[in-house]
Amino acid sequence: MRLSLRFIIPLLIVLAALAYAAVPLVDRMTMRWSIRDLDLRAALVANTIQDQIQDQLSTESSKKLLALFTRIAQDERIFALGYCKSTSAPMLATRTMPDAIHCDDLRKYQLSGGNILHGEKGALHVAINPVATATDPDGELVLIHDLSFVERRGEETKRYIFYSFTGLALIVSLITVIIAQLSWRGWMQGIRSLMRGEGLLRQPGTSIQIPELRPIARDLQRLIKDLESEHHARDEAQLNWTPDTLRAILHGELRGDDVIVVSNREPYIHARTGEHIEVQQPASGLVTALEPIMRACSGTWVAHGGGSADREVVDRKDRVAVPPDNPSYQIRRIWLTEEEENGYYYGFSNEGLWPLCHIAHVRPTFRSSDWACYVAVNQKFADAVIAEAKTSAPIVMVQDYHLALAPRMIREKLPDATVITFWHIPWPNPESFAICPWREEIITGLLGSSILGFHTQFHCNNFVDTVDQFMEARVDRETLTVTLGGKNTAVRRYPISIDWPPNPALMETPAEICQSELRKATGLPEDQLIGIGVDRLDYTKGIIERFNAIERLFGLKPEWIGRFTFIQIAAPTRSSIPEYHAHEELVRLTAARINQRFGRNDAPAIVLKVEHHGPRQVYEHYRGADLCFVSSLHDGMNLVAKEFVAARNDEQGVLVLSQFTGAARELPEALIVNPYNTDQCAAAMHVALTMPKTEQRDRMRLMRGLVSEFNVYRWAGRMLLDAATMRRRGRLLKNGSNNVITEK
Ligand code: G6P
Repeated sequence: MRLSLRFIIPLLIVLAALAYAAVPLVDRMTMRWSIRDLDLRAALVANTIQDQIQDQLSTESSKKLLALFTRIAQDERIFALGYCKSTSAPMLATRTMPDAIHCDDLRKYQLSGGNILHGEKGALHVAINPVATATDPDGELVLIHDLSFVERRGEETKRYIFYSFTGLALIVSLITVIIAQLSWRGWMQGIRSLMRGEGLLRQPGTSIQIPELRPIARDLQRLIKDLESEHHARDEAQLNWTPDTLRAILHGELRGDDVIVVSNREPYIHARTGEHIEVQQPASGLVTALEPIMRACSGTWVAHGGGSADREVVDRKDRVAVPPDNPSYQIRRIWLTEEEENGYYYGFSNEGLWPLCHIAHVRPTFRSSDWACYVAVNQKFADAVIAEAKTSAPIVMVQDYHLALAPRMIREKLPDATVITFWHIPWPNPESFAICPWREEIITGLLGSSILGFHTQFHCNNFVDTVDQFMEARVDRETLTVTLGGKNTAVRRYPISIDWPPNPALMETPAEICQSELRKATGLPEDQLIGIGVDRLDYTKGIIERFNAIERLFGLKPEWIGRFTFIQIAAPTRSSIPEYHAHEELVRLTAARINQRFGRNDAPAIVLKVEHHGPRQVYEHYRGADLCFVSSLHDGMNLVAKEFVAARNDEQGVLVLSQFTGAARELPEALIVNPYNTDQCAAAMHVALTMPKTEQRDRMRLMRGLVSEFNVYRWAGRMLLDAATMRRRGRLLKNGSNNVITEK
């Protein structure tokens, strides 16, 4: 209906404009025709009465002539009649003859356009016709017509035109609506059935199959898919992904819709240090990736307010604008009680789901009290998202394993929202996931998402296999779409990345200065070779395995003793969980043991820095080191690997990378290792320390090329583009189904 109106309104406007333009034209034409009529009529009257005039004049009976004129002037349209013998004679005329007309200036009424006289009586038509007689060869008959009948005729014609155009407009509109409705309904049915793969296979209006058309339908579907993917590929290849690209997608493709990010960890933590409030950026891959996006989108980020001064800086609605130096978006903080934090964050999320998904030989612990908190806190986050939504159809980006139930809770209240959930950690195989006592609830919660993203295809497949095994849901393996309760969730691979080009502030200090400063600050000799590790103190990061490999390197290649030092930055994390506490102890002890064995006075084997480092300090370490070792036992992506590559604009340095990270699939030019294979890792470090500079440059160039092309804006942009396509399709199908008449 809306489409029909969109066509009809301009049509009516055009018709009205035509009618408006036609009115003066009609006036002019009516006048021209009438004058031509009157001229002919006057000539006819003159001819008819010429003989009578001659008779009357010959008998010198001007009275009779006047009586004749008066009789003729009784005609409805004749206003006055007169006769001039010559230009100098007085006019013999009826009393109605206007004073302005005299025999001596009749010529002016004979000129083209001069025969209209405007006076008190309205417009009059003046016709001068010669009536030459034997006595008066110059005699002229003056016939005046009343033109008011022309106006009446014009009014009537205008009224007729108005009714004709109105009738025409109504008929055209009616036909348009009928045709639009019929063809739209037909198209919609066609498109929808084509999407279902039936369009060409059934006879219209029946359920009779037409098998001969099946190959054509398949070809068509394939063509549509090819076109779609080609369109995507072309778009992606052509785009230079920047914050502006994201803004353009948001304003163009998504029509400026509301974007809400929801995660457990907040991007800025306000912490009290004595008198002052310090702002910290947490060590979280998720935060590293999403922060630049939020700067670009200016949306709202709903997160747990965990900082000691977080409550002091928020407004009445628990919001604070960030980044502090240049506020461009809002954090909406959620407050959790100690019990909630213990049950939801430490308990179910980090003692249950985290080890469950990482399969890093730490047994997951599931308690029903933790589960109850997990459900309640997920509801708290979902409620905050619903409260923050400015429209009924926002784009909500739910992050990670802390909030697996939130997507469904959000969708229940905001059915038109597009919920994009991103699972930042691995998804295990179905057998491992089956350990979770609430596996069905977790999966049902996640299937409230419109799009569910993982870093690798392997994790997407694991998720789909898990659904297939434990849920009554329809799984389409070709399109990787899961349908539960009539709602679709697209399962997609979106490899996360980092900000590229990196923030210039992080690259300010030249690489050579970083190298000398790092050695100076650590008390190492100037020519010391340095390896770097940057992680949270988490057992999944393989820090112990890394240290074991360093020990092995010194054992196998003693020439490195005193010449090579490994600096490990280890950000404290989740320390109230016993496993993490024990892990920290083990890391400290292992480092101490190795230092005792292979350390030299001015050159320890391992420098362990268990403290929080800001992005600037981290980048200075990356730029000052000779190699970076990422040895995760299992990791969704691992952004440290990509950050190291981004930091090395001098194209030097070697990356040693665990094969169990998502990053290993994108950075094959790194030295890829199995962190459980100590000898292999030791050998890789030796290769890295002896690698020629030219080879370092060649490998680094290739890796930098990939990270520059697949940056974090592309990660977010692809999700948002997919969300935009999904929203467009949704609108199309909705409009279509509104127009469909149920078949009887
Ligand atoms: C991983 C998770 C993130 C989390 C981060 C830091 O990267 O995927 O969701 O924020 O670790 O952990 P934390 O418990 O300190 O937030």
